[in-house]
Amino acid sequence: MTSYWHPFADMGVVEASGELPIVRGEGAYVFDADGRRYFDATAGLWYCNVGHGRAEIAEAVARQLRVLAAYNNYGDLTTPAASELAERVAAFAPVPGSKVFFCSGGSDAVDSAAKLARRYWYELGRLEKTLIVSRVGAYHGVNGFGTSIGGIPPNRDGFGPLIEGAQVERDSAAALADTIDRLGAERVAAFFCEPVVGAGGVFPPPPGYLEEVERICRERDVLFVADEVITGFGRCGRWFASERFGLQPDLLTCAKGITSGYLPLGAVIASPRVAEPFFRPGVMWRHGYTYSGHAGACAAALANLDIIERERLVGGAADLERELVEALAPLSEHERVREVRAGTGVLAAVALEGDAALSARTLAELRSRGVLSRVLADGALQISPPFVTTRADLDTLAEAIADAVEAAAVALTGGGV
Ligand SMILES: Cc1ncc(COP(=O)(O)O)c(C=O)c1O
Repeated sequence: MTSYWHPFADMGVVEASGELPIVRGEGAYVFDADGRRYFDATAGLWYCNVGHGRAEIAEAVARQLRVLAAYNNYGDLTTPAASELAERVAAFAPVPGSKVFFCSGGSDAVDSAAKLARRYWYELGRLEKTLIVSRVGAYHGVNGFGTSIGGIPPNRDGFGPLIEGAQVERDSAAALADTIDRLGAERVAAFFCEPVVGAGGVFPPPPGYLEEVERICRERDVLFVADEVITGFGRCGRWFASERFGLQPDLLTCAKGITSGYLPLGAVIASPRVAEPFFRPGVMWRHGYTYSGHAGACAAALANLDIIERERLVGGAADLERELVEALAPLSEHERVREVRAGTGVLAAVALEGDAALSARTLAELRSRGVLSRVLADGALQISPPFVTTRADLDTLAEAIADAVEAAAVALTGGGV
């Protein structure tokens, strides 16, 4: 064991049973140090949209780093890569005329959006509009605001007082309206919402839900923030899930798929309404990161977007959505599977009939069958592979899950669920 403290890890277990170093990736597969191949059922952590091993992105980054690795973007400074990327991302934005602010990942994007929402109302003289409403089961990263508005209790516990706000039932638009009305709309700055709940368990929105919560926010003068850190850059079969659901969020957070994970990068897309007060002379949003607009990261993103466009991977993801539904369908008949959630993008979860031990053991059995997945907050298995996954890969995956859960149940209980 090395000195490495892993993220989101039970280090006692890791120390006892060892690490699994992943050394190489190719398409929808990764390889360990012994050359064993694994299907990447999670695209890393929902990010590797274009698949692993894209030399084109590595070369674009190397070209950029040779010329200029990074330079600060504070004040009037920029680099060609950052400006070009902002233009390209703005062109996909759900609201025309949007502005793009860069940071280093999804948690930064969420905290930037939360600060921006509060500061927006401050600029308008509405100093009391500071509360942020979010959803039970939501994941919005691990920074200060993200931890406070996150709806997965173990991620919030034990840190002392968090930033004041409120959480509403996941799929109830009425609960949002009631909560804003109870708090007083004059105190609520924003509602944050993942179009498809990701880390909480992959829960697609019920029909009409997103449209309705957006309407409720508009009606009450509360900013509507779409956290598209997972759903952005094609994962829902459109550039953004907002486009799929006809949403016009005031703020949109993204990361992951913007570079497919080749380098860390996040962004906040601000609609003209929110950006406008900050673009007046004499107003400054005193916020930014050392690596905002990092040239190397932006070069990775530009090369990644080139691949997505050239290979039509957003349309490919829409096709893959259907194939994922078809391939996983037989699993819903499996006696040890409680529910298969799929049908909104290249995003699915397989919930098992059993406790956390069964999920954990199934994960281990999957590994030994050449599949890397992950257990989500509700105990379900995460299925969100790269967009270069084939139907044959998905069929093999579904068979591996069926075998693995069976083997796990036998190992744990001698056969019973
Ligand atoms: C919806 C959502 N928001 C924010 C984040 C945080 O992103 P990061 O881990 O890049 O900080 C994540 C990460 O999975 C996410 O799924």
